[in-house]
Amino acid sequence: MTQLQGTSHDVPAILADLTADQVDREFLANAEVHLPRLHDLFAQLYGDRADGFERLASVVDLARRSWAARPADLKALDRARESEPEWFESERMVGGVCYVDRYAGGLSGIRDSIPYFRELGLTYLHLMPLFESPEGNSDGGYAVSSYRRVNPKLGTMADLAELAAELRRAGISLVVDFIFNHTSNEHRWAQKAVAGERGYEDFYLIFPDREMPDAYERTTREIFPDDHPGSFVQLDDGRWIWATFYHFQWDLNYANPAVFEAMAGEMLYLANQGVEILRMDAVAFIWKRLGTTCESLPEAHLLLQAFNAVLRMAAPGLLFKSEAIVHPDEVVSYISPDECQISYNPLQMALTWEALATRDGRLLQQALERRHALPAGTAWVNYVRSHDDIGWTFADEDAAELGIDGSPHRRFLNDFYVGRAEGTFARGVPFQENPRTGDARVTGTTASLAGIEAGDAGGEDRVILAHALALSTGGIPLLYLGDEVAQLNDYGYSDRPEEAGDSRWVHRPFRPAQNYADRRDADTPAGRVFARLTRLLDVRRATPEFSGNELIAFDAHVPSVVAFLRPGDNGFAVLVLANVADSAVEIDALTLSGMAPEALDLVSSAPIWLGVGVTLAAHGTRWLRVRPR
Ligand code: GLC
Repeated sequence: MTQLQGTSHDVPAILADLTADQVDREFLANAEVHLPRLHDLFAQLYGDRADGFERLASVVDLARRSWAARPADLKALDRARESEPEWFESERMVGGVCYVDRYAGGLSGIRDSIPYFRELGLTYLHLMPLFESPEGNSDGGYAVSSYRRVNPKLGTMADLAELAAELRRAGISLVVDFIFNHTSNEHRWAQKAVAGERGYEDFYLIFPDREMPDAYERTTREIFPDDHPGSFVQLDDGRWIWATFYHFQWDLNYANPAVFEAMAGEMLYLANQGVEILRMDAVAFIWKRLGTTCESLPEAHLLLQAFNAVLRMAAPGLLFKSEAIVHPDEVVSYISPDECQISYNPLQMALTWEALATRDGRLLQQALERRHALPAGTAWVNYVRSHDDIGWTFADEDAAELGIDGSPHRRFLNDFYVGRAEGTFARGVPFQENPRTGDARVTGTTASLAGIEAGDAGGEDRVILAHALALSTGGIPLLYLGDEVAQLNDYGYSDRPEEAGDSRWVHRPFRPAQNYADRRDADTPAGRVFARLTRLLDVRRATPEFSGNELIAFDAHVPSVVAFLRPGDNGFAVLVLANVADSAVEIDALTLSGMAPEALDLVSSAPIWLGVGVTLAAHGTRWLRVRPR
């Protein structure tokens, strides 16, 4: 381990100071466990800097003050979470996500929606970015101008804290984004940095000319090529600043420990408002090194672990959710109890759509078999689609084993989902198509991508199938609110100037009031999808086999069938079967002969006799409680 400067303030010295200050016993106990870890991480990240150690001392002080200010009910929650560390792995967990303005007008509208969230059984609510951000295009709020002020159009920070408490009383954990890779160009720090104010010069990565930007861009990837090429944008005074995403989202410079300290302060502030899960935005990009892709560098992990250690001292009940939409090897590298306890599962999401397009379940089946397992104390967040585009992030090496060539396959999937391929049922829209590299991604609501918009006969079944997988593989299923009533694409975005250049708005419609009004009407797609999906939600909640993450892949001997067992207690298991083909298939009795023939169909509550095999309808799914012998 590299030694930090000023070692007279090593771990025992800081602990001794805390003891002398008579800090709260609980804080001291947490610090005794987590400070050595934080110290070690600081040594690795900032060991070669003269100010590294001072910063560590001030971060600890920050944590101490934040703990002192933490409301008693949140401290009680911390204790409850610590005494039941697996709380988020329960079969009762179900998430929902929405934009505050689009779904409910503002925070008070979200409050009014709590009875509906309870009806759905939500236990987790992700409110999309709600902080102060620039007028007009703010990347849907992902350009934050202040982490301590709520966008005045939505409400106030006090409203948010109250809402968090009310949600908690309803059994729902509030999730918000921690957008810590970048701030908006209007953030106070950004303006000070550009003005060269002392202490802020190094908050961002600013270069006088193209020399360094050119050097970095030799190995970095373009993320939003429709907005600007490369990773840098030019400032009015001619200098260049790092901006991975939109030109108004400036990347923070974490090589400067002052940036870590500042963001740790914002994190703890949010924690004390009652946020229970922080969605760690764009984790792959937070550390840069010349000559690398500047994605998922080892220091990105160290930084997340350091934030985690700070949290464990001052707000130990919180969880981090990783947003890494990258190669599956990289996705899992962020998941551990010491780093991010939960993570989006972009591979399962993308491969569900891949299977529906190809009518071949093998790539998804292979992923469930080899890429689903996670360390103890962590969980996937499984989703059918998010507010972002779908990128085909499967591993080429996995696909090659099945004789699938990655690049042309991605091209096929893009064409299929944007409606360019012959016979497609999908009505998606391309996103960030890059003619130079051939890269592209896809946008669209679940209903529009699955065929409901196109009037395809299998559309509703596909919506159910995709959700049935997200609800059953293990982890927290996350519903994009409005999809449960089959909301369609909103093409109106192209008439709204601040959205027109970003096709992700096509799948971020306003609350679909008519669909909600129709949700009890079985003559409408909204009514049918809602009835079937809420049945699945009810069944999941009552099925302990769906807790945790253990999954045993099952070979159904039919390429269009994805199949796996979720083992439970007492020798039972749930066998999940999903058929992505456009016609019915048979799973024969011999294939099922490893299980006792008496089984129970959990969705229809009817007994089923495996001794004659199982028929799966076109795009059909079954959840069967079986007894493996
Ligand atoms: C994440 C968000 C995405 C946003 C980007 C930049 O990927 O999900 O919507 O554009 O970060 O903040």
